Amino acid sequence: MYVYKIGICGAGTMGAEIAEVAAYAGLPVILRDIKQEFVDSGIKKANDILQRRVDKGKMSQEMKDQIMERITGTLKLEDLKDVDVIIEAIPEDIDLKIELFKELNDICEPHTIFTSNTSALSISKMGSGSGRPEKVIGMHFFFPAHVMKLVEVIPGIETSQDTIDTIVELSERFRKLPVKVKEIPGFLVNRILLPMLIEACKCLDEGVASAKDIDLAMQAGAGMPMGPFTLADNLGLDVVLNVADYMAKQYGNPNFNPPYLLRKMVAAGHLGVKTGRGFYDYSKM
Ligand SMILES: NC(=O)c1ccc[n+]([C@@H]2O[C@H](COP(=O)([O-])OP(=O)(O)OC[C@H]3O[C@@H](n4cnc5c(N)ncnc54)[C@H](O)[C@@H]3O)[C@@H](O)[C@H]2O)c1
Repeated sequence: MYVYKIGICGAGTMGAEIAEVAAYAGLPVILRDIKQEFVDSGIKKANDILQRRVDKGKMSQEMKDQIMERITGTLKLEDLKDVDVIIEAIPEDIDLKIELFKELNDICEPHTIFTSNTSALSISKMGSGSGRPEKVIGMHFFFPAHVMKLVEVIPGIETSQDTIDTIVELSERFRKLPVKVKEIPGFLVNRILLPMLIEACKCLDEGVASAKDIDLAMQAGAGMPMGPFTLADNLGLDVVLNVADYMAKQYGNPNFNPPYLLRKMVAAGHLGVKTGRGFYDYSKM
């Protein structure tokens, strides 16, 4: 199926970035959130990404303006009635996501595909609650979505081949690298990444080395572009803890058990870059 128009639900960290990616690829985007201030801040985030390119001389002001004209913010779910693909980027709560898909099922055209940017939750469960399971699929972008190339494409049990093909093709139009992944908790990247982040926390807690030295060692010795603590601070320690808790429960595997240090930091509100403090101090940056 050819995609002409995109609807994005959630104008937060991921929704705003994905709106920029879709508009840059030439597609009209309707960006929906539940409060006007969230819609405005999402549109501002997309604008800021493009403005930085203009400031660096990589894009003309005119081109930036044309891209931004393709993004329309809204509070009304009904404004998503004529989009071909929905990209859901609302909080990581399966009941919220199913509720949204149920509402959209009554509003959108029968051909509309519902994708979820979930980091770990079951696509099959979202599909079964949506009223259109053959048209529900995972489309997992990585933060920051305007930079990171990978999109994990995750079919649920009932997802149709046409839905898979459409989302692979759409990811390519977004200039991303789509990788089809079987539905398992955490999918591919988080399944491999989480035990490494957890092990790094345990090493820090045991005094094996400082956060800075562990980061340096993983960069210089394991070829990582950024160390595990810099990465975790950027992802948000609350997000890391949530995903680790979910995966530990789903797999029953102690390798996913979040260390107490991580729990303690989240409880203290040290969530990483977004709160100014995580494994590193960002307050003076
Ligand atoms: N942050 C990351 O690094 C990252 C990376 C990959 C995937 N994800 C996943 O993407 C999803 C969104 O994460 P985020 O970090 O952007 O969250 P966020 O909290 O920054 O943004 C979520 C937005 O959704 C809005 N919202 C809530 N209910 C809504 C509804 N019914 N309709 C429209 N908007 C609604 C909220 O007001 C908020 O603005 C989650 O499932 C998360 O697991 C996050």
